[in-house]
Amino acid sequence: MRLSTSLLAAAGAVPLATAQLHELAVKAGLQYFGAATDTPGFREREPYPESYSQYDAILEDPKEFGQTTPTNGQKWLFVEPEPGVFNFTEGDYVANLANRTNKILRCHALVWHSQLAPWVETTEWTKEGLREAIVRHITEVAGYYRGRCAHWDVLNEALDEDGTYRKSVFYNVLGEEYIRLAFETAAKVDPEAKLYYNDYGIERPASVKTAGAVRLVKMLKDAGIKVDGVGMQAHLHADNHPSEADLINTIGMYKEVVKEVAFTELDVRIKVPVDEQKLQWQSECYQKVVGACVKTKDVCVGITIWDFYDPFSWVPHVFPGNGASLLWFEDFSKHPAYDGMVNYFGELIEAQGGNATCS
Ligand code: G3I
Repeated sequence: MRLSTSLLAAAGAVPLATAQLHELAVKAGLQYFGAATDTPGFREREPYPESYSQYDAILEDPKEFGQTTPTNGQKWLFVEPEPGVFNFTEGDYVANLANRTNKILRCHALVWHSQLAPWVETTEWTKEGLREAIVRHITEVAGYYRGRCAHWDVLNEALDEDGTYRKSVFYNVLGEEYIRLAFETAAKVDPEAKLYYNDYGIERPASVKTAGAVRLVKMLKDAGIKVDGVGMQAHLHADNHPSEADLINTIGMYKEVVKEVAFTELDVRIKVPVDEQKLQWQSECYQKVVGACVKTKDVCVGITIWDFYDPFSWVPHVFPGNGASLLWFEDFSKHPAYDGMVNYFGELIEAQGGNATCS
């Protein structure tokens, strides 16, 4: 997947030396290459606040990232901390940044069992009460952001590891009905947004969870409910990741039931300590995602990495002993995966008969 010297020559003088991810992704036929980000006060670790200016310069560079997602700010816990009390301060930070820096905004996430406001889990619900709470939440939140969200992750992680429905408060009270209600409501409130089902562990074709995601989306379609896309979060592992062919086959399965897919939360964790071999595996993994998306670009619209700066990654907090999963190290030098993707994008653009040179 390395660009050969002859290909480089064919592409023109120093074609990729200054090329950046979003501009290459667009040249390769995707809608975007993006990075999720958080409100400064919410970033996972804050090694030195003076790094923010360097961080912000990379984040805001339109050639690097043409899309963004708030990693936390639009979640229930933050937008509706008390019943009927809405607060868009955190979500607005990223929505405004997207607007100011001309980025596509993916909105995340309307209904999710995690980072729920505590009252949602402690209330003794009747079916009718929970229906009303879901409808009010989606109506207020998707209504507030109407016209700004290219995509909404309407439903996040509703499947267990075995592909059956997760036994969340929503499922326990309403069963499958809550899924239909969430999508129906989102479609009414923001008819222009692409509505997504988003989950992790649904990137491999033989996985029971992938089958579950196909079933879930097909259930909605069969009920005549609008669902536009499947978001593969793609929290992957450097030392054990799906092949490009596997990813392409998985996308083919989703293509049977929805019009589009996206890689929505890509990161590739490494077991620390980091070494060259592991960084090479990581680079290969990032490249496989690029290849799979570009080679299915009639369906795969784009790739979002879940932040880009290692100190702000969620991974070491949740999986101690793992880290370095993004593209910029703490000292702001780039991982080899960055050039790996740049070169592979170039190769794919050449293969399509284009010229990888970017101005
Ligand atoms: O709410 C407190 C806030 O008051 C405090 O100022 C701040 C500073 O430490 O911490 C805040 O809570 C943290 C929150 O992120 C906001 O930073 C939580 O402790 C922390 O657990 C939470 O982690 C987030 C995680 O979702 C929760 O499950 C990660 O940042 C976020 O990247 C992660 O994102 C999820 C996707 O939404 C869904 N897919 C998986 C992905 C990774 O877990």
